[in-house]
Amino acid sequence: MEAGRAAGALLRRRLNLSSQVSYKGEVDLVTESDNLSQSMIVARLSQLFPGHDILAEEGLRRESGAPFRWVVDPLDGTTNFAHHLPVFCVSIGLEIEGRADMGLVYDPMREEMFWALRDEGAFLNGSRIRVSAVADLGYSLLATGFPYDIRQTGDNIAHFGNFVVRAQAIRRCGSAALDLCYVACGRFDGFWEMKLNPWDVCAGALIVKEAGGRATDFSGQEFPSTVSHILASNGFLHGQMMDVLRRC
Ligand code: IPD
Ligand code: CA
Ligand code: CA
Repeated sequence: MEAGRAAGALLRRRLNLSSQVSYKGEVDLVTESDNLSQSMIVARLSQLFPGHDILAEEGLRRESGAPFRWVVDPLDGTTNFAHHLPVFCVSIGLEIEGRADMGLVYDPMREEMFWALRDEGAFLNGSRIRVSAVADLGYSLLATGFPYDIRQTGDNIAHFGNFVVRAQAIRRCGSAALDLCYVACGRFDGFWEMKLNPWDVCAGALIVKEAGGRATDFSGQEFPSTVSHILASNGFLHGQMMDVLRRC
């Protein structure tokens, strides 16, 4: 939490600076701030837990076969950040023997620290959180996102079309980790997205589950999963959302 808060504060300070942007793909960008945030988090984790493995988005893989692995997204919502849109977060998960055991997602703009420990519940700052009770897709507020290769593949456009005529409304906020936390605390009732990476979902999926919801692949298989398509919901909507996803 200390590392997450410090990195979040750095991002908040840098939000309105004009950032140095470079491209990992046609629309997949990275700023100097992604790298600075990652260095700060990795330095602190390495100091506290020198024997642990680390997977961090901006090119860091420490793989010694240790049972503990930290999974870090130093800035989830980079496109928002690069456009000075204050919707982004830091996401840090800890896996033990490949299973998520601890997760935190910190939104420095709202000073919201979402966190969970396996079997001990999910929290927003000091208070316990729970998923919503909405049980009918027609009354649900859903979230999604689109993959960086959308110009080549068109992925998720058909699913979006199927959901938008069934749900009450859909939002695309630009941070998968925050989308998951918003499912966990009942702001969203469900979320789906294709082609996410471990650092996008490691912490957030645990937070959803510990808040009483479900986080699976599109066919309802539990995490950890090799599939990167994520469906998260309050549990009541999971079957209805799987039915919509099966339509294409
Ligand atoms: C992205 C965000 C976005 C999602 C993308 C992710 P990044 O992460 O979570 O909401 O739609 O698929 O890659 O690149 O900002 O860390
Ligand atoms: Ca991300
Ligand atoms: Ca990122």
